[in-house]
Amino acid sequence: MNTPLSVPAPNMGFSSDNIAGASPEIVEALLRASAGQAQPYGADDSTLNVQRRLADLFEHEVDVLLVPTGTAANSLSLAALTPPWGAVLCHVQSHIANDECGAPEFYTHGARLMLLGGADAKVDPLELAEQARRKVGDVHSVQPSCVSITQATETGSVYSLDEIQAIGNVCRDAGLPLHMDGARFANALVSLDCTPADMTWKAGVEILSFGATKNGVLGAEAIVMFNPERARDLAFRRKRGGHLLSKMRLLSAQMEAYLDDGLWLRNARQANAMAARLAAGMQGLPGVTLQGKADANILFCQLPAAAIDGLLADGFRFYHDRWGPGIVRLVTSFATTEQDVDHFLSALRARVS
Ligand SMILES: Cc1ncc(COP(=O)(O)O)c(C=O)c1O
Repeated sequence: MNTPLSVPAPNMGFSSDNIAGASPEIVEALLRASAGQAQPYGADDSTLNVQRRLADLFEHEVDVLLVPTGTAANSLSLAALTPPWGAVLCHVQSHIANDECGAPEFYTHGARLMLLGGADAKVDPLELAEQARRKVGDVHSVQPSCVSITQATETGSVYSLDEIQAIGNVCRDAGLPLHMDGARFANALVSLDCTPADMTWKAGVEILSFGATKNGVLGAEAIVMFNPERARDLAFRRKRGGHLLSKMRLLSAQMEAYLDDGLWLRNARQANAMAARLAAGMQGLPGVTLQGKADANILFCQLPAAAIDGLLADGFRFYHDRWGPGIVRLVTSFATTEQDVDHFLSALRARVS
């Protein structure tokens, strides 16, 4: 008797990119790294290699600290850039302001997040220039101390190189260091088709949270520092903050495999292409309005309430109505397939026709 070929069931989750697991290459690297012995706390060959690889990739001397979460990468980075009486200037929709449970304030020992506006979740450089000088030297007020931007942003938009440079210029003029939350760094990079150097230090970024977990890694992020002055203190902060893993090689092995053979770029291209496929398929459907452009792997749209209920009843998963009535966020990942997207699109068409 012939055994029927099994076709995997489509993934029906579009709520986040971290609902996906990990690329096989990452899991295989972890298996290899788990055999034998290695020096603890980052003194192993693999950790040193990650630092060298990132220096090559960014075409710049870098100091690198690996941590298990994006919140740790962001909060430790910001702690290196601001005193407790400082202010971190960031967008009102930023992850650090909304989704890190006060960790930036905690790790900075109480620095304030100063929330700025700007279209498409991007910091407006004019408002930034104004706020960067607000009450400087006034002992009664928190002092602007650093700026943080997210690339790609929380709404899936991507800063152009000119836009990053404009913010970098404001930072330079005001003497403020610039941090980039790159939880979706690879998605932004392939969208802009530029080099990692272009998108960071060449445009004025001093510290980068280099994300990998959302893009095929099980759990590893890198703090990449382009200014060696920051590095020594940050190593102590990481230990004190409980993020110096004794078996650091397990994070390093993931990061090495992520960078090997362009896996990180392939994964990001897949995620972005699937968001673009979703957007193209939704174009012109009755009652469906796309919000902004899907520059990376996040797409916002407005759907009729009955369609949202219908899709949820079908088993699809996504966040909705948090940003306004009928507003839906769809997120794709390296693991999203054309079949997954087409399955969603045919269900949506059935619900709106
Ligand atoms: C923009 C952004 N920054 C950082 C993070 C990292 O957060 P976590 O601490 O969950 O790894 C996320 C995850 O959702 C994010 O979307």
